[in-house]
Amino acid sequence: MNMMGDDKKGSDSDSVLRFELNTGAKMPAVGLGTWKADPGAVGEVVIAAVKIHWPIRTKPGSGGFGADVMAPLCLPETWNAMEGLYASGQARAIGVSNFSTKKLQELLKHAKVTPAVNQVECHPIWQQPALHHFCNSTGIHLSAYSPLGSPGSWINGEVMKDETLLDVAGKLNKSPAQVALRWGIQSGHSVLPKSVNESRLKENLSVFDWCIPSHLFTDFSQIPQQRLLRGDFAINETSPYKSIQELWDGEI
Ligand SMILES: NC(=O)c1ccc[n+]([C@@H]2O[C@H](COP(=O)([O-])OP(=O)(O)OC[C@H]3O[C@@H](n4cnc5c(N)ncnc54)[C@H](OP(=O)(O)O)[C@@H]3O)[C@@H](O)[C@H]2O)c1
Repeated sequence: MNMMGDDKKGSDSDSVLRFELNTGAKMPAVGLGTWKADPGAVGEVVIAAVKIHWPIRTKPGSGGFGADVMAPLCLPETWNAMEGLYASGQARAIGVSNFSTKKLQELLKHAKVTPAVNQVECHPIWQQPALHHFCNSTGIHLSAYSPLGSPGSWINGEVMKDETLLDVAGKLNKSPAQVALRWGIQSGHSVLPKSVNESRLKENLSVFDWCIPSHLFTDFSQIPQQRLLRGDFAINETSPYKSIQELWDGEI
């Protein structure tokens, strides 16, 4: 994975507008999250990539994740079908989401096409450095969902209230959201903040002409860590996962 621009963590240089995927495509460093956007709020959308959303399988035609709809996992077969979409040109990139290091390792054992992206929860209070390192070393781009902690949703994380983040925001005269997003970009991953508020969209995109200096960037490593979207919904008697530890292969 290459960054177009700054290539050093905590570097004082500015602007990382896009990341290069292993397909050669360029991915915006700040994407637009659309989850829970009102109907019509998102205009024209171009589908350029498809991903396995969770390492979970449910019965065809079912909804939700209850015990009655869970089906045995078949990740190799699913990935093989995704590779077919890629080979036929129906998807310009294929990726995964909510995959642990172990699940990526398993997938890579039989994959003909390396996933372009692993979209996972990532923000200053769930930094996932080991997964980040593995993705970097295998050419998989890590893309961060809920980079602001998903305030106002049932996840309702307090990323933007973290003391270290607020301290850095005050010193740089930036908003907590901007510092959270800039931390992600400087860590080497893209971020997917969701907003349907025009001024916040502009705020979230104003993270390219400044940076978090190294001496403040290192402060983020002291922040206590907590996964916010734990995936408890996927744990039940018919699920392949009998515990949260199994779902995340210990990365929790
Ligand atoms: N793959 C997965 O399993 C998965 C899981 C969760 C999310 N996602 C993706 O990640 C995207 C983003 O995640 P998310 O929506 O959970 O969380 P998020 O982007 O961390 O937080 C969104 C919340 O932050 C608010 N917000 C946005 N910009 C702000 C700012 N500058 N200052 C203060 N508040 C701000 C938004 O409110 P307003 O809209 O009112 O501004 C919204 O309530 C989703 O749209 C979805 O595409 C993927």
